[in-house]
Amino acid sequence: MIAPATVVAIDGPAGTGKSSVSRMLADRVGAQYLDTGAMYRAASLAVLRSGIPVDDGSAVADLVDTLSIDLRDGPDGTVVALDGEDVSTAIRADDVTDAVSAVAANPRVRARMVDLQRRVAGGRFVVVEGRDIGTVVFPDAELKVFLTATPDERARRRHRQNRAAGRDSDLAQVLASVNRRDHLDSTRAASPLRRAEDAVEFDTSDLTVEQVLTGLIELVDQRIGVR
Ligand code: DC
Repeated sequence: MIAPATVVAIDGPAGTGKSSVSRMLADRVGAQYLDTGAMYRAASLAVLRSGIPVDDGSAVADLVDTLSIDLRDGPDGTVVALDGEDVSTAIRADDVTDAVSAVAANPRVRARMVDLQRRVAGGRFVVVEGRDIGTVVFPDAELKVFLTATPDERARRRHRQNRAAGRDSDLAQVLASVNRRDHLDSTRAASPLRRAEDAVEFDTSDLTVEQVLTGLIELVDQRIGVR
């Protein structure tokens, strides 16, 4: 039995500012930040390293079942350990980004990740960021938020992040990748990306991170009480 957590669920597609906003929100309200995308990325990195084709569902799931994936807060964001190795940088590489939607569409992989996410959150006050947090992982979350933004704006943000992190980036390719992942993530059979009916939706296209954050802190205060 896993102790119930107090959960703020933040879902939405890539490039909506979810990660920055979730991390800052957790900091401001005294919660732990849990980046579930990082878990799917770590699993995908392991699959790529193993040479198993990403579309070999049962071999991929067998491998993922053997992995140890840990997240902890570090000074520069979440530190992701895959079988004890710090893979925080490696999981952001383009080949992992390209493979992750296929790995995340695997129902057995999702079942393992969801179990892991509930265990990590157990008994704590957490801000959990992902795609299916309000719909599947924590359907009883105290607060559910769904962030959106236009595909063009999301691609521009990813492009800027890539450049800031010193990675090569081409805006047209980033937009194509955003559109491709949106399509795969929202049309997959297992827990597709969709807004929970009781989620509060924010279109962040014309909002700054600070503006989104202010709105979210108010909501946390109303529903949970800022600690
Ligand atoms: O947020 P991100 O870009 O780091 O997520 C990486 C991928 O993982 C993304 O393509 C969708 C998938 N994902 C998921 O299916 N479910 C989650 N809860 C989080 C991420």
